[in-house]
Amino acid sequence: MESLEAIRFSRNGDSASLALLEQRLLPLQTQWIQIDGPKAAWNAIYDMTVRGAPAIAIAAALSLAVDLVNNGGGAQFDSPAVAAAHVIEQMDFLVTSRPTAVNLSIAATALKGLAEREARAAGATATSVTGAVVGACQAMLADDVAANKSMGRHGSYALLAASQARGRASSGRVSVLTHCNTGSLATAAYGTALGVIRALHEQGRLEHAYCCETRPYNQGARLTAYELVHDGIPSTLICDSAAAALMAAGKVDAVVVGADRIAANGDTANKIGTYCHAVAAHHHDIPFFVAAPTTTLDPDLDNGTFIPIEERSPEEVTHFKGQRVAADIPVWNPSFDVTPAPLIEGIITERGLVPRAAGSASNSFAVRSWLA
Ligand code: MRU
Repeated sequence: MESLEAIRFSRNGDSASLALLEQRLLPLQTQWIQIDGPKAAWNAIYDMTVRGAPAIAIAAALSLAVDLVNNGGGAQFDSPAVAAAHVIEQMDFLVTSRPTAVNLSIAATALKGLAEREARAAGATATSVTGAVVGACQAMLADDVAANKSMGRHGSYALLAASQARGRASSGRVSVLTHCNTGSLATAAYGTALGVIRALHEQGRLEHAYCCETRPYNQGARLTAYELVHDGIPSTLICDSAAAALMAAGKVDAVVVGADRIAANGDTANKIGTYCHAVAAHHHDIPFFVAAPTTTLDPDLDNGTFIPIEERSPEEVTHFKGQRVAADIPVWNPSFDVTPAPLIEGIITERGLVPRAAGSASNSFAVRSWLA
């Protein structure tokens, strides 16, 4: 089966190209947008042509790679220090595109640090700086897929074990609910939470997947449903507000969602509506998991109250395809919410599950010490 992808990067010597799938048109149209550098990538991230925490970071980094390669590599800079300064300036600009997902800012810190170290290395040239940065950007695609496959393996065992520990999934197959889109369209490929569902399906351990439509932007109805149908995974689309009723009907053995930023105690920012599912899952004693690469962990923030929450345009709520469908009323449209750590059964990463904190803090997670 041909794998879905949202980011296409290719390089041939001194020329590189980056194309992003125009996700705002899915599932009705497939259109690719050429990205010639950081400005175009900033717009594509802000407008949500590309979205999903890992995909945002990868698209931004590759836009810098395209900019560096197509403008002559190191030859455009007078010195290694000037080349490093350009990398820093462009990455600082790109991180201003969307505030909640931390993956982009972690990638920016890594690329800026790499450029600075390369510029200081003995015998450094502007070309050695740009070469190292472009190499690191290109590696992000393959690294992300490997991380997602690993998360899929860890997550599939964790979901099944936690469901069975609660007397669910006695057939050896789990029914899983997910929110938003965390699949191939939100990453380099395969996905995080949707990667866990893919892994369960590949192992014959998935009974059924339920995807929530994810109002107001409909990433679930438009994107996750598209991915599930593409892969032939047994699945059903529900309204966000039907999730608790589905749980009450005994149809859900586990919930798995992605994340945009996970604070040091495990509090998790993810698409608006995630918190509602966590509360409902807790009420029904259903294990609620978060799946995210370690690049979504933010050890610098003590807890979720410090996570910046993006608020998007009222039109996303009041309009549908440019047509007003709501009365003319003020709107609050936070794009994300924060699920408190005590509602989370486990945080699945490519390195395995994040351990719980010790002693009286055991309803939170030891992100900081685990990453150190
Ligand atoms: O606004 P979006 O579509 O970028 O929000 C995406 C999510 O909330 C995802 O769950 C999260 O980024 C993880 S994607 C692997």
